[in-house]
Amino acid sequence: PQPSLTPSDIRARKGEVPLVCLTAYTTPVAQLADAECDVVLVGDSVGMVLHGLPSTLPVSLEMMIMHGQAVARGLERAMLVIDMPFGSYEESAEQAFRNAARLMGETGAAAVKLEGGRHMAETIRFLVARGIPVMGHVGLTPQSVNTLGGYKVQGRGEDRDRVIADARAVAEAGAFAIVLEKVIADLADEITETLAIPTIGIGASAGCDGQILVIDDMLGLFNAFQPKFVKRYGDLAQDAATAIRSYAEEVRSREFPTKEHVFSEGSPKT
Ligand code: KIV
Ligand code: NA
Repeated sequence: PQPSLTPSDIRARKGEVPLVCLTAYTTPVAQLADAECDVVLVGDSVGMVLHGLPSTLPVSLEMMIMHGQAVARGLERAMLVIDMPFGSYEESAEQAFRNAARLMGETGAAAVKLEGGRHMAETIRFLVARGIPVMGHVGLTPQSVNTLGGYKVQGRGEDRDRVIADARAVAEAGAFAIVLEKVIADLADEITETLAIPTIGIGASAGCDGQILVIDDMLGLFNAFQPKFVKRYGDLAQDAATAIRSYAEEVRSREFPTKEHVFSEGSPKT
């Protein structure tokens, strides 16, 4: 198998062919993503997408580790990045290091991602200096939904300077790449031109150095929320509903199982 991509490989893709990134939370989906992706992120979106939680805030370190281990088993080439969940890194650089080391040590992830700009710069510097590659995440930071006042567009008007300062601080602190979420397009382009590290957009701009989407969103499997920035490349929820309806009808009518699906004295053993 080809060796996995490293944070330095990803950083070196600045200004090259855009980085293809998706989330994954399970082994089989990680295998599918691995075929095309440069980065696979175990996002804390797992809480909303797979666990039915109302936001990412209740996601625990244990949940991230369990999904991180599952995803790691499905990857060969793509780089595995894992989100630090809410409450696991904000208190101090030491707390962040302790939990980042657990996330990486117990899953084999090559890097962690954490949310926040200037106020997290010191922590990012602390982690990078001690061997933990960090992917930043600024603009809309869903773990701060309660202080941001909703999942709003970021960087409009007077908010522009805040987002630029946050992105710069994260890059200067040593992050190898940065997610720009729901940042207006011309600002995402300006940040992309300014920073020496790759920007990875979600609801940002085609000018970013890469794109990321939540895989269940783009597959049309998770439809509880449909942000404008999600393009649906599949309709898996509809496909599943149709399959389940056919199954139910065939069970009720005894069309399933047929001889093909059952065993008899003469049939093969498996
Ligand atoms: O948790 C997540 O899925 C993310 C990406 C959408 C960037 O943070
Ligand atoms: Na996240």
